[in-house]
Amino acid sequence: MGIVYDEKNKTISLHTKNTTYQMQVDRYGFLLHLYYGKRAEGCMDYLLTYYDRGFSGNPYEAGRDKTYSMDALPQEFPSLGTGDYRTPACIIRNADGTFSSDFRYESHSIKEGKYALKGLPAVYAESHEAQTLEILLTDRATGVQAVLLYGVLPEFDIITRSLRIINAGSGQIAVKKLAPACLDIVGGKYDFITFYGRHAMERNFQRLPIGHGISKIGSLRGTSSHQYNPAVIAADHETTEDAGACYGMAFVYSGGFQSEAGMDQYGQTRLLMGFSEEQFSYPLNPGEALQAPEVILSYSFQGLGQLSQNFHRCIRTHLCRGKYKEAVRPVLLNSWEASYFDFTGDSLLKLAKQAADLGIEMFVMDDGWFGKRDSETRGLGDWKVNEEKLGCTLGELIRRINDMGLKFGIWIEPEMVNEDSDLYRAHPDWALAIPGRMPNRSRHQLVLDFSRKEVVDSIYQQICSVLDQGNVEYIKWDMNRSLADIYSSAADCQGRVLHDYVLGLYDFLERIVERYPHILIEGCSGGGGRFDAGMLYYTPQIWCSDNTDPIDRLEIQYGTSFIYPVSSVGAHVSASPNHQTGRCTPLKTRGTVASAGTFGYELNLDKISEEEKDEIRKQIAEYKQNASLVQNGLYFRLTNPQTENTGAWEFVSEDRREALVQAVSIRQHGNMTVDYIKIKGLKENAMYRETGSGKLFNSTALREAGFPMPAEFGEYRAYQWHFILEDDGAR
Ligand code: GLA
Repeated sequence: MGIVYDEKNKTISLHTKNTTYQMQVDRYGFLLHLYYGKRAEGCMDYLLTYYDRGFSGNPYEAGRDKTYSMDALPQEFPSLGTGDYRTPACIIRNADGTFSSDFRYESHSIKEGKYALKGLPAVYAESHEAQTLEILLTDRATGVQAVLLYGVLPEFDIITRSLRIINAGSGQIAVKKLAPACLDIVGGKYDFITFYGRHAMERNFQRLPIGHGISKIGSLRGTSSHQYNPAVIAADHETTEDAGACYGMAFVYSGGFQSEAGMDQYGQTRLLMGFSEEQFSYPLNPGEALQAPEVILSYSFQGLGQLSQNFHRCIRTHLCRGKYKEAVRPVLLNSWEASYFDFTGDSLLKLAKQAADLGIEMFVMDDGWFGKRDSETRGLGDWKVNEEKLGCTLGELIRRINDMGLKFGIWIEPEMVNEDSDLYRAHPDWALAIPGRMPNRSRHQLVLDFSRKEVVDSIYQQICSVLDQGNVEYIKWDMNRSLADIYSSAADCQGRVLHDYVLGLYDFLERIVERYPHILIEGCSGGGGRFDAGMLYYTPQIWCSDNTDPIDRLEIQYGTSFIYPVSSVGAHVSASPNHQTGRCTPLKTRGTVASAGTFGYELNLDKISEEEKDEIRKQIAEYKQNASLVQNGLYFRLTNPQTENTGAWEFVSEDRREALVQAVSIRQHGNMTVDYIKIKGLKENAMYRETGSGKLFNSTALREAGFPMPAEFGEYRAYQWHFILEDDGAR
């Protein structure tokens, strides 16, 4: 099956349907990386070149052989101290104060099924769907062990990597740097594709050549961040959406991270993904272990589109969990942009009633329902229903909303506390703060020390007692600031706090998921500030951005689509002019863009006309008709909205019999030139009927010559075409 050990050549090959990853235990016991690319059999150690490496060092046992240098050989798990001066995947401060590690192969085992990681999110699979490779490496001088884990999912063209550092020595060590994924590529020239941004403008696509030196992105914020997403791609300079080689890495982790890409002195490329090094120094006493989070890897030789589809399928079906993972999500109305903090129970019920009349299926009560929370400045930490504001109990409110035929959802932000709260007054030491320094405030709030179990337990109890008050079917789990002031009174070493915080968060989430398996959780962090594969294990959808402007969303959702499936992208229709940008857009455009995600509304229904209400009813009906294709179909990017006049994308059913193309015109000019959208993924040379016009089109012509954008008067027009296979006519 997937993993093959060749005793003669000492190679281990990880085969997926279309790709092969190969490594070799070499003559000195180093674990070298040989190949990751299109599926291939045989031994690829001919790729290793042994030339005189001049001043690059040689391991002692190489004797006078200057051709053997770790400074030039591609490796699976490079560390400091072996003579490799490139950026390492691992730095350990040993018990004797030194920083060298020299990991050599001891043994390996191959098992059916995919490994799981205790306390951490990870891709899962049935035992027949995956295999696991475990390789034990040891630093013989210190006894420190590295257990490398590889999960192979052949049908998905996915390989996962993780590792465990075990202190099998006799003194305390500290892990200073750890990157569970390292990819050394010996030849070729690559671009580093990353997704940068800011609050309300997340995951902008950036593609820059990997040159000599190191390009590094990451987050020092304790969360994966709005600023850089923990997913990267190395793509051959020539690679396009539809052709060429590319490698993707998605970190299944929601804390700080770093990804480095660099070309070495010999023109070889190294790509790393792992923990952020800043404020990280994880202590391990003898016998203790540090389990690194997992990285999902994929390779495509058919361009970025195929790479994205590999990630989408894996994340949607083998990382997301729960009853909603592949189900069409309920169409929701969220109260935030409708009324912010300014509501009463009656005004919520009125809004819910209006929502029900439009065909909306779930009502979400956002921030402001608890404690004395009527502004950003207070209340966080006091998860007690403000019955005075609601005019009734939560149970009563939910019952009345359920009676309207609506599900009920609620907003929480468990990791936070305002100084003006009963919780903070009772437990000021529960907030992260460094003794002798005043803490940084952000959005007037402090962060609770989730590295401490008693803090997590207490908030968990509070949240459960709210959720137990009625039929809650959805939670929006928010997190509205970055961590600062990293100090925990409970920690033996402050270098562990950031990671332990994330473990505390995951523990909390896991308990909620287990206790309330029927609840759909939507992640959020000021919009998309913690949009990562780690959160998607607990929350199958994430509020993509606080920016609901459909034109900005074209770019945000475009960048997001490189790794994350549409089923994970929270997207709502909001008011025009938009509350974040002031831009006016047609309701149809707002609906079209939001329908390319987990669809909902977020606006004051009092302020819309009867015609708009009718249009919303139609939008919902149409959305529901297409929702299964949208959430579970193959996703194709048809244009780049950052640089082109049109934003266009497409969903194609797995059997290629049906396709939905959506397009938005971004810039309008007099006497417009015509954009032709090249429609992809259909059966070759087959006839498809476009249901709106009833006309027949040839799929090859649609791909090669494209489909013309209409030249209608007016800004930001949206279009949608639905193609159904009519005749694939044995041509
Ligand atoms: C964050 C979220 C918003 C909203 C507010 C409430 O900004 O991203 O959607 O829930 O918090 O305070």
